[in-house]
Amino acid sequence: MSILIKNGRIVTADADYSADIFIEGETISTIGKNLKVNADTVIDATGKLVLPGGIDPHVHLDMPFMGTFSSDNYETGTRAALFGGTTMVIDFILQKQGNSLQSALEEWRGRSNGNCVGDYSFHMAVTDFNEETKKEIQQFIEQEGITSFKTFMAYKGALMIDDRQMIGLMEEVKKQGGLINVHATNGDMIDYLVQKHRNEGNLSPLYHYLSQPEVTEAEAAERFADMANYTGCPGYIVHLTCEGALNAVRNATKRNQNLFVETCIQYLIIDASLYERADGAKWVMSPPLREKKDQATLWAGINQGLVQVVATDHCPFMWEQKLMGKDDFSKIPNGHPAIENRMELLFSEGVNKGKISLNKFVEVSSTNAAKIFGMFPQKGTIAVGSDADLILIDPKETHQLSAKTHHMNVDYSGYEGWECTGKIKTVLLRGTIAINNNECKVSKGFGKFIKRKKVKQNI
Ligand code: URP
Ligand code: ZN
Ligand code: ZN
Repeated sequence: MSILIKNGRIVTADADYSADIFIEGETISTIGKNLKVNADTVIDATGKLVLPGGIDPHVHLDMPFMGTFSSDNYETGTRAALFGGTTMVIDFILQKQGNSLQSALEEWRGRSNGNCVGDYSFHMAVTDFNEETKKEIQQFIEQEGITSFKTFMAYKGALMIDDRQMIGLMEEVKKQGGLINVHATNGDMIDYLVQKHRNEGNLSPLYHYLSQPEVTEAEAAERFADMANYTGCPGYIVHLTCEGALNAVRNATKRNQNLFVETCIQYLIIDASLYERADGAKWVMSPPLREKKDQATLWAGINQGLVQVVATDHCPFMWEQKLMGKDDFSKIPNGHPAIENRMELLFSEGVNKGKISLNKFVEVSSTNAAKIFGMFPQKGTIAVGSDADLILIDPKETHQLSAKTHHMNVDYSGYEGWECTGKIKTVLLRGTIAINNNECKVSKGFGKFIKRKKVKQNI
């Protein structure tokens, strides 16, 4: 099968030009002006932007968490991602303490194999690092193509590891050519504040926010950066939200260390005032939403190159599930839905409002994730030989986000009624039209597990 995309404005992280794209099979075979080729399908992209498919390296699908499961499974989650222009996601496997990494991989394969609509990979979350786990790291990187290892400095008593384990894991991951992802907040401090608020009878969602003040994140980001610097292990801080934590990264980069930063779309555009609403549980996530000054810091951090990725931390729960914590904020499952909304929100709020350039949009929504996590140039760009993962955006079309029209398996939207300018019209995944005019053309099983390469030291 072949497809010719004509007359589009092609934008990558470092280029912006008009040309045609010819796709044969799963990959791009030619890019040029006025291509004279015979194609099975011709798409006229006049007036549209043609961009690399989005990559969201932080999602939680069908994940057991806080006594329940995130409500999007691999089918609904990756399909919703495609509707929103994200052609590949990286999900998290969670090791069960006392068990092997391999057994967790098998469990996650059981839920994901044959069910994904879009492409996917896994990070391996290490919750129990010991002599046995250590022996498994090499095999994950060399054989499974899973090169990033997630750690939690919080969720005490569940997922959290201590600094002793962190250092040991860093040394092994560095040796084998991988990277450590981290949820960097101070778990002991948060645990203390949660108990304090509960003991004082302060149980509403606002106290989730008040249990995780900025200092809990700034302190952990700095500690993580110091440990990564000491061991020489490349690090990636997930869902960074605030000025204090970004300043810790700023300091770390002065000593030329390899430290990457992800923020998420929600931290750029919505703030902690939502916790005062009766339905504040919808935005209970960790770390919590922050202040307007933090949003300004994050946008600036993106433009300064300190923040390389805008992800979602998509971890949806139905309202019924959120009600598990109606009488106690600490029982509200943490997480919020955004896998379908990230690209359009970032385009509308970032590019259209002049906060970031179009090239920067491509960089933080796709290219940098591909580079950091070892998929580039197969993914994350538009080039001859790359997978034909492409999105066509109408930059002028306006639309509203709503739970009534979204495709995520969750019965509310964190962005109900939000006006977006810029609509994803067509999505191609490996040379197949996956989304066209609000219809999904591919089914579960179409999504492929992408084996990733060893981590490069610099992007
Ligand atoms: O609230 C969140 N972020 N839920 C998902 C788990 C995590 O910490 O990333
Ligand atoms: Zn986290
Ligand atoms: Zn997460």
